[in-house]
Amino acid sequence: MKRFRQRYYDYFSCIYDRFVALHSTDRGKGLRYFLADKTGLNKGDKVLDICTGTGSLLSFLKDKVGAEGLVAGVDFSIGMLKAGKSKIPHHDNIYLILADVAYLPFKNIIFDAVTCSHAFYELKGLTQDYCLYEIVRVLKPGRPFLMMEHDVPKNFLIRMLFYLRLLSMGTKKALEILRHERELLMRYFRSVEKIYTPTGRSKVMICRGRG
Ligand SMILES: C[S@@+](CC[C@H](N)C(=O)[O-])C[C@H]1O[C@@H](n2cnc3c(N)ncnc32)[C@H](O)[C@@H]1O
Repeated sequence: MKRFRQRYYDYFSCIYDRFVALHSTDRGKGLRYFLADKTGLNKGDKVLDICTGTGSLLSFLKDKVGAEGLVAGVDFSIGMLKAGKSKIPHHDNIYLILADVAYLPFKNIIFDAVTCSHAFYELKGLTQDYCLYEIVRVLKPGRPFLMMEHDVPKNFLIRMLFYLRLLSMGTKKALEILRHERELLMRYFRSVEKIYTPTGRSKVMICRGRG
């Protein structure tokens, strides 16, 4: 049975890209270029983007791994994936996969990097923990998980909207994310580095495990 969040994104998918384009200050898609660049991917590598949505990051990842590499995008909304599919040429080595990120349908130790753009905060309940466990399982030793999220906005109004989004996930979860994000990530990774995007509005947590 579909969950409320899945249905929400199925409907939202019709306008998602237009909505983002309207509200984003990142018209040149610099943020996605920046995130892909920080993966350290090489030609021939395999990369996974979780909660890929309409796949906006995938072509940037494809540029890094080239025609000999592989790019996989996972999302649990069929609507978002269909919208993504229409943007990707058939012959490309980019695969869109319908799955919940709590249970990734991949073998152990196969990806050279895992990315997540503006979605990790939305994962409900224990899904965040299951997802981190799964990311560690599918990553090759020492390779990174990169999580891009909005940083706490400086503008008062936008900060209130940011807090509202967090609160919609439940107060406990919202507080945990704000206060203990690094601790949560450190439960699964050996090192967690925080860097800021050139706009200064988003941050990227670069997490590395053993190896
Ligand atoms: C805000 S959108 C971000 C999409 C994309 N990463 C981007 O930057 O445009 C969040 C996405 O996460 C997906 N999502 C949320 N919970 C999920 C879960 N448990 N498993 C898989 N996808 C999930 C939603 O369907 C949606 O496409």
